[in-house]
Amino acid sequence: MTSICTVTTYTLRKAAADKVRTDLVVIGVVTDKSGALVAAPGGESVAAAYGRSFAPLLGSAGFSGSPGEVTKVQTHGTLNASQLLVVGLGDRDGLTTEKVRRAAGAAARSIGNVASVALALPAVDPEHIRAVLDGFASGLYRFDTFKSAPRRSQVADVVVISDAARRADAIAALNAAIIVADLTSRARDWVNTPPNALVPMQLAEEIRRLTEPTAVEFELVTAAQLKKLGCGGILAVGAGSANPPCLVKLTWRPQDARGSVALVGKGITFDSGGLTIKPGGSMPAMKSDMAGAAAVVAATVAVAALDVPVAVTAYLPLAENMVSGSAMRPGDVLTMLSGKTVEVLNTDAEGRLVLADALTMAVRDEPDVIIETSTLTGACVVALGDRIAGLFGDDTTVAEVYASAARTGELFWHLPIPAEQRRSVRTESKVADLLQHNWVRWGGALYAAAFLEAFVDDVPWAHLDIAGPSWNAGGPWGYVPSGATGFGVSTLVDLVAARAAD
Ligand code: BES
Ligand code: MN
Ligand code: ZN
Repeated sequence: MTSICTVTTYTLRKAAADKVRTDLVVIGVVTDKSGALVAAPGGESVAAAYGRSFAPLLGSAGFSGSPGEVTKVQTHGTLNASQLLVVGLGDRDGLTTEKVRRAAGAAARSIGNVASVALALPAVDPEHIRAVLDGFASGLYRFDTFKSAPRRSQVADVVVISDAARRADAIAALNAAIIVADLTSRARDWVNTPPNALVPMQLAEEIRRLTEPTAVEFELVTAAQLKKLGCGGILAVGAGSANPPCLVKLTWRPQDARGSVALVGKGITFDSGGLTIKPGGSMPAMKSDMAGAAAVVAATVAVAALDVPVAVTAYLPLAENMVSGSAMRPGDVLTMLSGKTVEVLNTDAEGRLVLADALTMAVRDEPDVIIETSTLTGACVVALGDRIAGLFGDDTTVAEVYASAARTGELFWHLPIPAEQRRSVRTESKVADLLQHNWVRWGGALYAAAFLEAFVDDVPWAHLDIAGPSWNAGGPWGYVPSGATGFGVSTLVDLVAARAAD
């Protein structure tokens, strides 16, 4: 692996859960048809060690086995570990990989201050081993870079217990999960970083530092170069900020590549709305408006670390949407990289402007498919809530995203690009080729998608609107922390990897 590393070491071991000598052991509990509490696969030996007192012990702690519920039990010599953490997995018949992933995340948030942990969760095959590790590593995530108090120590050793521990595919699954978990954490760190500490060129520098020790090539297109190229969208959005915009291009070129994927990610380091300014309350979370770019960078580096034999080129337009005497105005007409002109009616619809230029660059490189991800519209959050991403594109590519998401547990919902929005984008400006925004209140996510579609030509593509699930304004749940979630990293990696297998 590369220099990307966690402070936590993960190992896979075949062992009996009641015999492992870690500070804490985690098991899952399901409910059977009669509602009785039963140890889930992996935890049987622990239940056996307690004998008949197992279910009553949990019951007296008020534990009912519902998904994500946790309770800690002192072991008093019943097990070799000094503490037992029990996590609910719900109905035995309804047990899914995603429930295991969420339970592992809930467990990670409840381990307390321990040095070593054994996970005796249902890790019956490589897919479940991945889920246990994904969930646990993700649940351990904390962001305290900007706190002056010293970090609480992180658990040093995590043992994943599995009967499949010696299988090569199980070890590969563990290693893949570690890589994806590490990079998901990195994406979260960037999204959580305050906007004064991560302006466009600083984010570009962070990306350079992350990719430097890897096989991913890094290329910076500066504002001056964007101007020479004619990237009118990115330049206009960045024009109001003292911090210049730029574009980062990453390339992963494996030998004997089986096809190519272009990834595009929105990288607005802060979105004030510009002159069409946002209300104060909705501004602080707009440091997360580069979550698409963060997810794309993390996924690209993960694909390279996993040595996936599919070429990936990533395009990250980075800009800060601010207010000043040099800011873009409503009414401005921009000439985009594609040559098309765009009439701007709302400076807060900036994402589609930077993405249009990045999509044109991607199209010119002739990839097999373009996957673009962005915190694009509040309307998408209104439509689908904050746990489900909007999914747009041609039917084949949409099906491909759905197939990957079914494996990673991330949630997407296919939304249409109606002919009426397409018509409005392409015909309703009186002065330019395309209209950026039409002030119709309904279906804003669809209008944004229709606008992007005007820049992808005939290349198969998908647009993932992650405005909702990229940021968790509430408390943690499952493996999802409060704040940045890293949404999209695992699905993008899976999608590229699946293309290698086809
Ligand atoms: N970055 C926002 C979208 C957003 C909203 C992300 C809420 C995360 C949470 C985007 O640039 C934006 O402001 N979109 C506008 C579009 C509108 C002006 C057509 C919006 O959603 O209001
Ligand atoms: Mn905006
Ligand atoms: Zn935005």
